[in-house]
Amino acid sequence: MAWAEEALVLLDQRLLPDRVEHMRLTDVAQVAQAISDMVVRGAPAIGITAAYGAALAARKRYAESTVAWREPLEHDLQLLAAARPTAVNLSWAVERVRGLLSAIDSDPYPVLLDEARRIHEQDIAANQRIGALGADLIKGPCNVLTHCNAGALATGGYGTALGVIRSAHEQGLVKSVFAGETRPWLQGARLTAWELIQDGIPVRLLADGATSHAMAEGQVQWVVVGADRIAGNGDVINKIGTYGLAISARHHGVGFMVAAPTSTVDMALSQGADCPIEIRDEAEILSFGERRVAADGAQAWNPVFDVTPAALVDAIVTERGVVLAPDAAKMAALMAADFPA
Ligand code: MRU
Repeated sequence: MAWAEEALVLLDQRLLPDRVEHMRLTDVAQVAQAISDMVVRGAPAIGITAAYGAALAARKRYAESTVAWREPLEHDLQLLAAARPTAVNLSWAVERVRGLLSAIDSDPYPVLLDEARRIHEQDIAANQRIGALGADLIKGPCNVLTHCNAGALATGGYGTALGVIRSAHEQGLVKSVFAGETRPWLQGARLTAWELIQDGIPVRLLADGATSHAMAEGQVQWVVVGADRIAGNGDVINKIGTYGLAISARHHGVGFMVAAPTSTVDMALSQGADCPIEIRDEAEILSFGERRVAADGAQAWNPVFDVTPAALVDAIVTERGVVLAPDAAKMAALMAADFPA
């Protein structure tokens, strides 16, 4: 995403890799819709997008009334926060913006736009630090497996899981990447493969059902994934299928690393089981793209995230540092430590 000529410009990720097209958004309702419809997706990316959306909302509400802008703006913030339920970065970004409002007594637009830009820049810096810290854990050269897309497209830039992979590959620690295709939206096949190919990093796609076999064959040394939310006890909520990968990784003695900024850590959530899991339209499962493939009469259940218990996680890598074998005490220590903003 980018801010250009007083508007939010989003790369339409639904069209990749076939077409590179951008949408220009000038209204907060368009931004909330773009998040719900997966024009932009990935936890940090939707948080940053919402922050820019809040700036658009502030501009409109202050133009409508220089005295009564707060209530309608609050309504807009709620609309943004509700656009998708699972990734906590969305409500984290909205909360960060909301926290500024009480100190503003004139036009809120420039303040909110500055904050959105800051959130965006800080996310890129966090990714680069995560990349370096995560690569330090990898003893290579080896093959890694990732799931969904936790790359530049899913963040402000560089990526979390793909940031680790990029950094490790630069150091000669990663030979090649297995990417789970990630049904039904195919973030792995469409987006992760697209990003890695542009960087010259060898990538092989796996059907989601082939990942345990790849581990059993000794082809994978690390699983590296992102997160949509990390609970206070270290449970990890991420794209559906992550939990199965963690079980397989533990069974086969493969390392399991979660790379995420601390904006993804929700200390108010004591355990992953309490996280709202987004259930999307069953049509996404019953069809392949536009074409229905399921037998007539079949129904589907489409939870798009799952919960990996902390006990299956070897490392959580954040910009503040690495938590090995995470638990509630270690997560609390990570989040309590002084860290320059
Ligand atoms: O449904 P999506 O594509 O938004 O899901 C994205 C993921 O699950 C990512 O792994 C997660 O947001 C981390 S992105 C750095």
